[in-house]
Amino acid sequence: MFTAVPPSYDLINHVITLGMDRNWRRAAARTCLAFTPQRILDLACGTGDLSIAISRQAKGKLEIIGLDYSEPMLEIARKKAARLVANSPDFVLGDATRLPFPEENFDIVGISFAFRNLTYHNPITQTALEEVLRVLAPGGRFVIVESSQPSSQFIRWFFRLYLRGFVFNIGYLLSGNRSAYEYLAESMVRFYTPAEVRELLIGVGFKSVSYCPLFFGAAGIHVAVK
Ligand SMILES: C[S@@+](CC[C@H](N)C(=O)[O-])C[C@H]1O[C@@H](n2cnc3c(N)ncnc32)[C@H](O)[C@@H]1O
Repeated sequence: MFTAVPPSYDLINHVITLGMDRNWRRAAARTCLAFTPQRILDLACGTGDLSIAISRQAKGKLEIIGLDYSEPMLEIARKKAARLVANSPDFVLGDATRLPFPEENFDIVGISFAFRNLTYHNPITQTALEEVLRVLAPGGRFVIVESSQPSSQFIRWFFRLYLRGFVFNIGYLLSGNRSAYEYLAESMVRFYTPAEVRELLIGVGFKSVSYCPLFFGAAGIHVAVK
């Protein structure tokens, strides 16, 4: 699926989030940098937007590595970063279940809009989260920006209507890939609440988890501490 969607991926993201995805990644980048890290991993980096946002906001020396298992996504990330930032992050091919890094290598692992892919009804969930814990330094943070479930029942009803009506149809129309956008809309409709994400992260061994909702809870930023 993630080798098929790249040509239209960025455009569709902007359209279906009404342009808000950029601000949400920028907010996640600010959260990553608030902990004054020296080394950051952007896990499942896709076309590199979180890495680029971090690189743009960073002052001083900072190593940023984006990792993804889709080479077509990484190719776009490399070209985009070369165009947009002076200090281009490194973009490497790799699998979230077997991270090619030593233990305690990163101060921050960030992930934007891919936590759902790794953890929602996915048998690799436990392995992928254990890998994040392994490569994080003690006290390091796992910063997750992801779609979420609004707490208000009314907003949640509207949000689901929007996902099944607009997101699915526009994604399908612009990409021509029906199953990719069916998966996107349905997994977003059914994805975990912030409390369930917290439970998952604590269950795997994180010490504490905080949450900050974005746009009435349609998305949010979770920060888990190793
Ligand atoms: C919805 S995209 C998000 C991309 C990017 N982080 C963003 O903000 O747009 C999900 C990404 O996760 C990657 N991915 C999914 N499972 C993966 C795995 N097991 N290992 C590495 N990358 C994975 C896909 O290739 C895809 O690029």
